[in-house]
Parts: sequence; structure tokens; C-alpha cells
Amino acid sequence: MIKLVVNLALMSAVLWGGVATAQQGETPTPEAPGQQEPAGTSSPQGIQPFTPPPESEIPDDEFGAMVRRGKALFMDSQQMRGTYVNNGLTCANCHLDRGRKPNSSPMWGAWTMYPAYRGKTGRVDTMAERIQGCFEYSMNGKAPPVGSEELTALMTYFYWMSTGAPTRVELPGRGYPEVPKPAQEPDPARGEQVFAAQCAICHGEDGQGRKVGDQYVFPPLWGEESYNWGAGMHRINTAAAFIKHNMPLGQGGTLSDQEAWDVASYMNSHERPQDPRFTGDLAETDKTFHDEQCHYGEEMHGKVLGGS
Ligand code: HEC
Ligand code: HEC
Repeated sequence: MIKLVVNLALMSAVLWGGVATAQQGETPTPEAPGQQEPAGTSSPQGIQPFTPPPESEIPDDEFGAMVRRGKALFMDSQQMRGTYVNNGLTCANCHLDRGRKPNSSPMWGAWTMYPAYRGKTGRVDTMAERIQGCFEYSMNGKAPPVGSEELTALMTYFYWMSTGAPTRVELPGRGYPEVPKPAQEPDPARGEQVFAAQCAICHGEDGQGRKVGDQYVFPPLWGEESYNWGAGMHRINTAAAFIKHNMPLGQGGTLSDQEAWDVASYMNSHERPQDPRFTGDLAETDKTFHDEQCHYGEEMHGKVLGGS
């Protein structure tokens, strides 16, 4: 155990120059070395990159207390394990730097864009409903109800983070900017090589992440403790975009587009928790809710995905 802690500390010191301390649930600020992608890479004309206020400006009152509660839930979602969370993940695992990092689907980029029509639900979703979706799919859990302290706290944190942001304006750095499909068809076999060279050191040879005690310090990429077959990240295009801009941690933007798509295809060629929309029939669920951007229903590594 002690040896593992030492190894992890060493690894973070070597790999991230000591800036990122995933163990403490902190990631580098956008200015830190390695977060080298400028906020304005996809800047529509005339729109300035947005910088959320520093956390020292969270007010010292009841409102500020709710902002801090939301931040705590976002950084350590395992507090909700068993109630609303049913895997090993935390919101900030996919929305880096406490939900502040451009091109890592920052919460200031999201807040001002809801209510919005979404193809996934086929209706206009409020921010509350959008967050509930991430609980059901990314966290493989249960949606906290409107009016629950958890949902209110998260929304209060995002609202505060968006102080000064223009409403209903798509800000540069929102989402995970799309990475064009590369020349060669994405290939999980080539992706396996990328994984071994660039990812396994942190996420483990088996993609199951690494824990200290019962806390993940490196989150699992597939299997029972990861996001489920309904999550945005199970889509190869979405995963490629996240990976290209954000992984390896602290070295976003260093993989080629081809490598990002290949490793995304490999990562998502493994079994994970069932799609909550599963109708009882794999082929039907595949046809209704999935498209060519994923391996759900395909045979991979000798097993049909989604079939267990
Ligand atoms: C496994 C990775 C992952 C985890 C964990 C995760 N999300 Fe997300 N989240 C995504 C992806 C991917 C998208 C974009 C989905 C898409 O566009 O297909 C997203 C989108 C969002 C959006 C909308 C962003 C926008 O600009 O419209 C919000 C809000 C959000 N997530 C909140 C949360 C919250 C709150 C949690 C924790 C309870 C969480 N997410 C956990 C991957 C994740
Ligand atoms: C230096 C260690 C490190 C390396 C190398 C690394 N990651 Fe990560 N990765 C992390 C950490 C830590 C997080 C969670 C970030 C946070 O919570 O701030 C993460 C998050 C993720 C996530 C979202 C959370 C999840 O479990 O689904 C994915 C997907 C991911 N990494 C894929 C990759 C891929 C693919 C590679 C190789 C190209 C890679 N990572 C390389 C440390 C690393």
C-alpha cells in the first residue's frame, strides 16, 4: 500500500512536473504547464475567451456556502455513491480543473446554453435535466430530483462560475471541440498500441484505473466502475475529442487525430455497464439508441458488447 502511494506520487511528480495532484482531487489551473491549448482555438469571430472568477471571490454567505457544496460534490462525487452515483467516477474526471478548463466541457460554457433542445431526449431540457442525464449515464446512477440539495448545489456552483458570461452565446472552449475523422478508419488494434504507450501508465494495463484505499486516483476507462453504454463518452467521436484535447493528462493536444480516434475506439471496445434505456433486446436497443459511432452490439475481444 505504502509502496503504491510512493509510486503514484513519483509518477505524478515525473509526469506532471508536480503540478497535478490527482490524489488531492486538484488538477492544474489553465495557466499551468501542460494545459497549453489556448481557450480561443475555436473562437467564433468577435467572441472573447471567458475566464471564470477566482474561487477567492466565492462570497462568505449562504449563497457562497451552496457554491462550495456544489464544488465539493463536483470534485468528489463519491459522496453520492449509493444514492445517486453507482460507479467509481467523479464529475471532474471528465470536466477537468473543477469544471473550469476550456475544451474539457467547462461548466461556464454549459450554464448559459440551457434550456436547449437535445436530440438525445427529443425535447427542450433545462440545466437541471441536463445534469440529471450525466448522473444516469456518465455516473451510471440515479438522477437527483429537482429540489434536492445535490442538484441545487451543483447548479449554484455552475451559476456562480458563469458570473459575467453572456447568456445564450456559444463561448469558445465550450464542450469538447470535434476532432475531424482521420484518413484511416479508426482501428482498435492500432489504438491498443497507443493505449499501451500513452495511457496504461496511469489508467492501468487493464484500463481499470488505480486506487489508493477505496478512492480512485486514476479513473477506470471501462468495466463495471466506469461510465455506461448510454453515456456521451461511449461514442467514439466524443471520446476522441475529449482525449485529443485533454489526455494524456497535462499533455492535451499532443496525440495526432488518428491516434486520438484509434485509442478512443480501443477504449470503447470493452464491456461497461448496460445502457439504462435497454429494452431487454440488444438488437432493438442498438438500433433505437446507437449509431455507427460506437461498438455497442458488436463482437469485440470474443464477446458481444452490451450482451452480458
Ligand atoms: C465519463 C465522463 C463524464 C463524467 C464522469 C461526467 N460527464 Fe458531464 N459530460 C460528459 C460528456 C462526454 C458530455 C458531452 C456529451 C455530448 O455532447 O455528447 C458532458 C456534458 C455535460 C454537461 C453539458 C455541457 C454543455 O456544454 O452542454 C453538463 C452540465 C455536465 N456534463 C455535467 C456533469 C456533472 C454535473 C457530472 C457529475 C455528476 C458529470 N457531468 C459527469 C462526460 C462526463
Ligand atoms: C499522467 C496520468 C494519465 C495519463 C498518461 C492518461 N490519463 Fe486519462 N486521466 C488521468 C486522470 C488523473 C484523469 C481524471 C482527471 C481529473 O479528475 O482531474 C483522467 C481522465 C480520463 C478520462 C475520463 C474519465 C474516465 O475514467 O472515463 C478518460 C476517458 C481518459 N482519462 C482517457 C485517457 C487516455 C485514452 C489516455 C492515453 C491517450 C490517458 N487517459 C492518459 C490521468 C492520465
